[in-house]
Amino acid sequence: MAGRKIIVGITGGIACYKAAGLVSLLKRSGYTVQVVLTEAAAKFVTPVTFRALSRNPVCSEQFASGGEPVPHIALAEDAALYVVAPATANTIAKLAHGLADNILTASFLAAACPKLLVPSMNTGMWENVLTQENIQKLRKHGCTVLEPESGPLACGTSGTGRYPANQVILAAIQKLTGAVDTPAAAPPLRGKKLIITGGGTREPLDPVRTLTNNSSGRMGLALKAAAEQAGAEVVYIDAGAVDGVQGLKAEIAKNFAAADALIMAAAVSDYRPAAVSKHKIKAGQDKLTIELVKTEDILKYFAGQKKDKYIVGFALESADLLKNAAAKLKAKKVDLLVANDTSALGSAESAVVLLDGQNQPEALDRMPKTQTAEKIIERVGRHFSRVR
Ligand code: CTP
Repeated sequence: MAGRKIIVGITGGIACYKAAGLVSLLKRSGYTVQVVLTEAAAKFVTPVTFRALSRNPVCSEQFASGGEPVPHIALAEDAALYVVAPATANTIAKLAHGLADNILTASFLAAACPKLLVPSMNTGMWENVLTQENIQKLRKHGCTVLEPESGPLACGTSGTGRYPANQVILAAIQKLTGAVDTPAAAPPLRGKKLIITGGGTREPLDPVRTLTNNSSGRMGLALKAAAEQAGAEVVYIDAGAVDGVQGLKAEIAKNFAAADALIMAAAVSDYRPAAVSKHKIKAGQDKLTIELVKTEDILKYFAGQKKDKYIVGFALESADLLKNAAAKLKAKKVDLLVANDTSALGSAESAVVLLDGQNQPEALDRMPKTQTAEKIIERVGRHFSRVR
């Protein structure tokens, strides 16, 4: 893979300073990097930065009006991949409609290599049906799209739209460029529909307070990326973006009948406040007791009506990992249980044990969650290759 040329198209979103990290990471990973900047991106970060990091002249509008006769054609001719990171809603719309009004859109349109988009924008723009239609269209025509992450956004709000970690983008690039070398087997999950939950649930206490946990949502998103890479259609549900445990159940229920598998990586609250105060709880009392009531075990509920669906549960344990995980595997009647110790919570790495009730538990090394997720998805793929 070393020396292969990656075109990094950068559009004018606030996250474009993070693309500097991506360019640097790609260089360190042995790729040749050609940066293409839109005019708007060049206002956020100057071409000088990208030139220094990529050790290559940057293509921008000035370049386009320079010596090269047809720069947008020549650019991607020998490229292994064209990645647009960050991809703004505006550029996504242009690409979906085949516009070629700047050096980035023109070279993207002309490129015949695999293409990867990393959308990054405000939640409203991302969730807008027009953006979603554009994304669907680009996917339909062969572009790989990395789903944006959830969390605080530059506009001051919180939601889906965040630029993912550059390591996650690198992993996707490595997969896509690797696939060029080995067009071998069909993706193991092609034609399969997976529901993947991630993140932590939020149970309100009063209008301003919430009962939640330290789940970062990384594992869920890594699973989603790995499953999509394996050809699956994924319905990803962010547990923090639905209305508590019941909201999560309702969202899964909507998609369950059509799904082939459910992966419950979400950290689901076992308890919720017995009553949600309509008004803000005042600070007048010295002691405050909050009554909690048990929530429904969603995983157990759906595993109970799984039929031929494949169900993956997680177990988070602070002691007696194997013993407790084996008990959960049985009690919840899942096909595969991923046992984590609590050090995984909020971390980018995990060391998990996979239990399926038939084979010896498989202990995986401590590794980035992106890789752990690939191993889990591999197991799901193996199941479907047996039953296909
Ligand atoms: N889970 C669920 N609904 C709940 C609680 C947990 O669906 N109300 C799911 C989680 O998504 C996870 C699995 O059950 O896949 C195990 O979660 P975990 O927190 O490890 O175990 P619990 O069943 O909550 O048991 P305990 O907290 O006593 O360890």
